[in-house]
Amino acid sequence: MSFQRRNIAAMDGYVPGEQVNSADVTKLNTNENPYPPSPKVAATLKEIDSAFLRRYPSPTAETFREAAAQCHDISVDNIVPTNGGDELLRLVLTTFAEPGESVAVTRPTYSLYRVLTEIQANPLHEIALDDTWDLPENFVQQLMDAEAKLCILVNPHAPTGKLLSVATLSEIASNFNGLLLVDEAYVDFVDPAREYDSVPLAIERDNVLLLRTLSKGYSLAGLRFGYGIGSAELIHPILYKTRDSYNTDYIAQQLAAAAIQSREYAENIWEKVREAREKLAEALRQLGFSVTPSQANFLLATLPDGHNAELLYQQLKSENILVRFFDQERLQDKLRISVGTPGENASLLAALKSRFA
Ligand SMILES: Cc1ncc(COP(=O)(O)O)c(C=O)c1O
Repeated sequence: MSFQRRNIAAMDGYVPGEQVNSADVTKLNTNENPYPPSPKVAATLKEIDSAFLRRYPSPTAETFREAAAQCHDISVDNIVPTNGGDELLRLVLTTFAEPGESVAVTRPTYSLYRVLTEIQANPLHEIALDDTWDLPENFVQQLMDAEAKLCILVNPHAPTGKLLSVATLSEIASNFNGLLLVDEAYVDFVDPAREYDSVPLAIERDNVLLLRTLSKGYSLAGLRFGYGIGSAELIHPILYKTRDSYNTDYIAQQLAAAAIQSREYAENIWEKVREAREKLAEALRQLGFSVTPSQANFLLATLPDGHNAELLYQQLKSENILVRFFDQERLQDKLRISVGTPGENASLLAALKSRFA
């Protein structure tokens, strides 16, 4: 006899990309930053005294909250630190969506959203993106028709890297009577020339929350640290009611604060990733792939006609190059490729040139 709740027994869990520890593998499958965390993070880690681990950490990660507030020029009341961005997603659902209330997302999108709604028994309403991966014109109408309590948009979009403007987000938030969660896991890689900054929108409006993570932009996927940004009214119940008492640990709090204070270092690696992204996209196009313009640290590349994406994924894997294949509607002829260092990208291109040049 199974003791699982019916919805848990009926669901599948999240399937993460493969994680390997070997230096021989060119790992371009889970959108990690190819550069190390800042030297200030390394120095802070060295100085951590294990004697402090005897005590509980700050429940609300105050040192980090203050550093993040300063970084965004907002109040600490607008920030909730979480154990990775993924924990914020779970907390937003448990705090704001009653079980049974519907949650809207786009199709395709980050596959964890489905898993989290299934855990909480929230019906998931998927709104298909159009042929160019844009939101359909009647997007807000579809949200209303679905009676969505919560809409989760990933921006830049995963897995395409397309960026919605702040004006578009603002229009959605103004016309939607539910909560809009903008998952900005990849926002650090947006070209500054786009002048994308949704923080003022989140602070001003009472129905917009932003997800940020240190996993990608700050090279700290192994640390598990993210945070939410929003009005004090939205942040307060997450911070003081639904969050686990000590959801981020002492070591992570110190390192996350050091990372977010290393602004110059971070901006420098974001720029390197952007440059590599544009070069890699161009090289893939030269080989006959069609590549969606991306504002994230990955590219969605469609294989030239007559080639099989799953097979190519397997062949690259056998050559110690990992990329991501999604066996999903509209993605079966594509690979998602994380932008690596110039050397890693060159290894991938060398493997592709033998097949496509
Ligand atoms: C779209 C998106 N949102 C959120 C996350 C959460 O990242 P983390 O839990 O590492 O902060 C990821 C990680 O891959 C992601 O791709």
